[in-house]
This record gives sequence, structure tokens and C-alpha cells, in this order.
Amino acid sequence: MTSYYVTTPIYYVNDAPHLGHAYATIAADALARFHRARGEDTFFLTGTDEHGQKIAQAAKKQGIEPHAFADAIVKRFHTAWKELDITNDDFIRTTDPRHKQIVAALWRRIEAAGDIYLGSYDGHYCIACEAFYPDSQLLPGNLCPLHQSEVSWVSEPSYFFRMSKYAAALLDHIATHPGFIRPETYRNEVVSFVTGGLRDLSISRTTFQWGIPVPGQDSHVVYVWLDALTNYISALGGPEASLFQRYWPASCHLIGKDILRFHAVYWPCFLMSAGLTLPETIVVTGFWTVRGTKIAKSMPATRVDPIGLAHDIGVDAVRYFLLREVPLGADGDFTYEALISRYNADLANDLGNLVSRTLTMTDKFCGGVIPPYSAELARSGPHAELVRTAAQSIRDSSEHYIEYAPSRALEAAWNLVRATNRYIDACQPWKLAKELTNEPNAGSRATATGAGIELDHVMRTALEALYCTARMVMPVMPEKAAALLAGLGVEGEFRAEAMGSWPDPQRFGGELEVGSAIVRGEALFPRIDKTTQTALLDAWSPERPEVTEGAARGDATSGGQARGGQTRGGRSSERAAQPDVQRSGQSDADATASSADRPLVTMSDVAKLDLRVATIKSARPVPGTRNLLIVELDVGGGETRRVVAGIAAAYRAEQLVGRDVIFLANLKPITIRGVRSEGMILAAGDNEVLGLSAVDRKVPAGTRVR
Ligand code: MSP
Repeated sequence: MTSYYVTTPIYYVNDAPHLGHAYATIAADALARFHRARGEDTFFLTGTDEHGQKIAQAAKKQGIEPHAFADAIVKRFHTAWKELDITNDDFIRTTDPRHKQIVAALWRRIEAAGDIYLGSYDGHYCIACEAFYPDSQLLPGNLCPLHQSEVSWVSEPSYFFRMSKYAAALLDHIATHPGFIRPETYRNEVVSFVTGGLRDLSISRTTFQWGIPVPGQDSHVVYVWLDALTNYISALGGPEASLFQRYWPASCHLIGKDILRFHAVYWPCFLMSAGLTLPETIVVTGFWTVRGTKIAKSMPATRVDPIGLAHDIGVDAVRYFLLREVPLGADGDFTYEALISRYNADLANDLGNLVSRTLTMTDKFCGGVIPPYSAELARSGPHAELVRTAAQSIRDSSEHYIEYAPSRALEAAWNLVRATNRYIDACQPWKLAKELTNEPNAGSRATATGAGIELDHVMRTALEALYCTARMVMPVMPEKAAALLAGLGVEGEFRAEAMGSWPDPQRFGGELEVGSAIVRGEALFPRIDKTTQTALLDAWSPERPEVTEGAARGDATSGGQARGGQTRGGRSSERAAQPDVQRSGQSDADATASSADRPLVTMSDVAKLDLRVATIKSARPVPGTRNLLIVELDVGGGETRRVVAGIAAAYRAEQLVGRDVIFLANLKPITIRGVRSEGMILAAGDNEVLGLSAVDRKVPAGTRVR
């Protein structure tokens, strides 16, 4: 069986995980899930990098031992990865005894090759990078080119690694293995760096203790990058172990662009010296920035909490956004507006709406069970076209995952989603259903009339397309893929099988079981309407600039890296004109109505709103937010409701208690910042609250408002 071994960088433990860390780990997880589904013997490794001056200093600052300091942060990484649905097979810590042992063994192999000698190092060192810098690479004022902070001067005895010896072999390897460093721009960067000449590398330090002792030379600790890079083989038990035989060389080291040189130059040279095979591919990711500044723990203004986002809009939506929005090698500027836009456009409108309309119509027209497929109809017209599109999507998506382009893999899956929406529009199953009811034998649905067969076939084709889609998006959105399969009535071992294997284009049309019941549950991706959007944006970034009209409409033309907005916006308005049955569950009508020009409503629209007088019982801030309050209301009949209201800029919590307000009681509940909000207090003002609603005399809580 083919093996697939994917690694993330091991993370420094000087602070809790942030979005940049989550990105690499989610990407590696999606790759691991995809390769498992292809039936490959997969091993997925992540972990933490705990030695070196940087961690020693951070621990000292807090007055704790480095090991205890690392333990506390490592727990946060474990929690984060659990919350983000990460399926790593192992978690390596560089303080693990198993790791220390292999670092010592690797040192000895390199030493035995005659590649280590004692010298002394005089030069500049950036503690944040844990890297030596020749003067030529520093910015004026002796600043680190990456961190723009002052570097230290180091002068100490040190062991050196004969890296210069491997320059030619490394260039040769890069030339003969075009996929060794991806994307190509990073490959070129490495080639020009190595061509410029490689110096021998200082690989031990003597001025601090927090590290792995050099074998036989306790006064030296191993340079933290030699220590850290070794994790990729120490987790396998080292070169003699059976796991090593099974998984080495690594198929993919996924890394950020700031650590390219360590992985694409130092690591291959160490491995060549130790007589070990080089990894197949080093895949380099770009940076996530916030308003152009790299997200980093040292920059509080760039902090984006991936776990908070996952709680608020779902873990799969966050995973989807990160992998879809920006191709792996590129930088991306993160905005909350772009996150919401993409959620609404791709997840709520395209996929969520397709699922909702397909299941609704299957319920209505096919008795809620999987209808038969007609091999004959499938041979021509729109039916045949959709079968071809499905096959193409499956092939493209798989190729893109293999080529480390998850964004394009998802795009390929969306080709099928959009084609299926168009297919339903073209086939108009609601018309076929109408024809059926007009037929003389209308009472008996079992009659195999033309319209009946076609109606069944259209619905079955759409259901099969959803089955393929669930499996194509599974690596990125495992939870939603499972929920979608459950909706299609795929249960138990069949679901496990569908989740654990890659779709086969040849089997399109024959995957689902005729007669098994579909399940119409909660909307897969409830649309984030304008009110929720404002509340979420308030919670996530209270100091944000005003929401742009595009973002408010769920139109992907605004914010960050969102692309293709014009088409998405266009589609929304087209769909708004279609009959209800196609769009049930998830309305996108608000996507087309601007605040200045709202559509006319009828009394029956108004009657849908459960408006009541409610009395505020208590109010308190949502921790960590500026504008959000948790408000508890007496809504009559002995019932208390809790809402999260974005009104703290206009009212202090204590001013609110005892007030009567108008309350919308049947607004779909949402969770904001981990708090379930069940309703909405009406207030005047658009983006900014100018005044709360009120009644002009005392009436009992719960009194209806009309
Ligand atoms: N400990 C080293 C890696 C050793 S691997 C043998 C290290 N750790 S780190 O915690 O600073 O960074 C880990 C990874 O997170 C790096 O690949 C880095 O590029 C990535 N990211 C950190 N901030 C990032 C963004 N803002 N955006 C995307 N990824 C970034 O380096």
C-alpha cells in the first residue's frame, strides 16, 4: 500500500495558537484526510518546538521553569487542534525523551560522516528567528529582516556543520526533483540562495542551557533548528524503527515561507550527511495578514482567534474559508467581512441552498425517499451533462488535492454544486410534478408515466450529485460532509465508507439506495443575515471600520481576498425570482434588498413576526467585547429569554434593567461568542444604535405588538 506522511511545522510554545498556526494545521489535516480517503497508509504529524533561547526567555519572564511553561502552552495546542477537528496521528514535543534520543543519534551520524568540527562563532543572532544572520542580510541599525527587531551579538565556542560540502548535491537534487519545493517561486528563491554559496553552519550553543546536550559535550546544547527539524524522524522512532521504514521519506513538509531556508537548505543537508533520503516535497504557505501586517503573537492588533470563530460560525466554515480563500503559497489579508461574504455566497447560498431545495423537493415529490435512477434518461440532455460534470469535478478535485491546491480542489467541487443548481433550474421538477398531478392516474405515484420517471430521475441525479459533493468536501469540511450524508439517508457503515473513500465517477447514479429515507434536518449553513452579521462583527472586532454595503449584502465583492463577487451577486438576484419550493429553508431574499430600497411586504409577512413587549431583567457585558451585552428579558408567560445585543456603545448595562422594550421572539437563535442569543431587541439606528424601542405606558411583559 502506498504510504503518505504529512507534517506541520512544530510550533513554538511562547504563546497560544493563532490563526497562522491553525492555517498550516488545517491544511495538513485536509491533506491527511484526502490521502486516507484514497486508501493510502497515512501518517499525520504535528507538535511543538520547546527548546532554545526564545522559549527560555519567555519562561523566565513569567518566572517559571521552561518545561512547566511549555506544558501549559502545549495543553492549549491540544485543545485548539481538538476544537478544529484535527486528526493528527501523533504529537511530538521536542522535550520528549524519545525525541532527545534521536537528536543525539542524528548528531552522531553526522559526526561519523566527518561533517562536524569545533570552532567559534562571532556574529549576529535573531532570537525570534533562532537564526544567525550575516551582516549583509540585516536591515540598517542591525535589525532582523523578518522581525525588524535588534539582533544580538554572539561570540562563543561552537560546533560547525560542513554545510558548504552539500551545496552542489542540493542544487542537483532540486534540479532533478522539480516538485521538491512548491510553489515554484520558493524553489527559485532557494536555488538563488544556494547558488550564492553556502557557509558552514553553527550547530551548538554554549551561552544557555535550555536544549538537548551535544553527545559527549555537555557544555554545548544542540542548535534549536537541528533539534527541531529532527522531529520529523524522531516521531517515527528514528532511522532504525519500523515506522521509519513504513513512512520515510516524508511525502510533504508543510511550512510557512519564513522557515523555508531551514527546511529546504539546512534539513536536506543534514539528511544527506546522515545518509538519509530527502523528503519528497516541501510545500510553502504564505502569510495571513490583518490590514497588511502579518498575524503574529507579538502583534496584538492582528490577533484573530480561530477557536472563537469556529464557535460562532462553525468549525467547517472556518476551515473552508482558510483553504478556499487563498491558494496555499500566496499571502492573504484576513477580514471578518470576507469570511462572512464567502460563508453566505458559497456555503449558505450555493451549497446550503442546493441541499435544502433538493431535500425539500425529494420530500414533496418523491415521498421523502431516494427515487430510482433511469440509465436511459442519463444518456442524454441535461442529465448526461450533469453526469459528465460530476465526473470532471471528481477528477479535477482529486488532482488539485494531490497537487497541493486545496483552494482549486474546492473550486472543482463547487463546479458540481453550481451545475446541479443549474440542472434543477433547467429540469424544473416542480413542473414535472404539476404535470403528474394533472394526469388521469395521478392518485397512483407508482405509475411509471414519462413525467414520473423523469421527476424521479431529476431528483435522484441531484441527490447523487450531493453525495459526490459531500465526499469531495470531506477533507476540508468533515462535519458538514457527515451531516449532508446523514441528510441523504446514508447511515452507519455506509456513511463511514462514504467518508473514508474517494468518489468513483463510474458509480454516479448507483450510489444511493432506492427507497431509503432522506432526513430533512437543520439547515446545513444557515445564512448569516444582516442583524447577525452586525452582532458577529461587533463581537469579533468592535473597533472595525463600518461594514461595507457589499459585505452587508453577502456579496463577495467586498473585503479581503474575496473574488468573483460579481457573478455570485448576480446569481443571488436570479434565484430570488424563483418559486418558493426551490429555495425553502434558506432565504437569500435579503441578499438583494438594500436598506434604502426594501421590498414591499404583505400583512402575512408581518404576521410571521412574533413581536412582544419584554422587560429587561438583567444586562452584563460579553467578556472581551466593547459593544455586546448579554441581556435577559421577561417575555411573558413566566418565560425568560437571553439575547446578545450590540448596544453597549449606547447604553450601560445598569441603565437597562427594568425597561420595557419591543422584542422579536421568533428570530432563529444563533450563538455569538459562545452565548446563545434567542431573539432580538428592536432599536432605532442602522449600523449604530440611536435609541431603544419602548411602549409609552406600562403594559404586561408578553403583550403582543402588531
Ligand atoms: N518552531 C518553528 C518551526 C520548526 S519546524 C521544524 C516555528 N514556529 S512558529 O510557531 O513560529 O511558526 C510555525 C508556523 O506557523 C510557521 O510555518 C509559520 O510560517 C506559521 N505562521 C506563523 N504566523 C503565520 C501567519 N500569520 N500566517 C500563516 N502562517 C504563519 O517557526
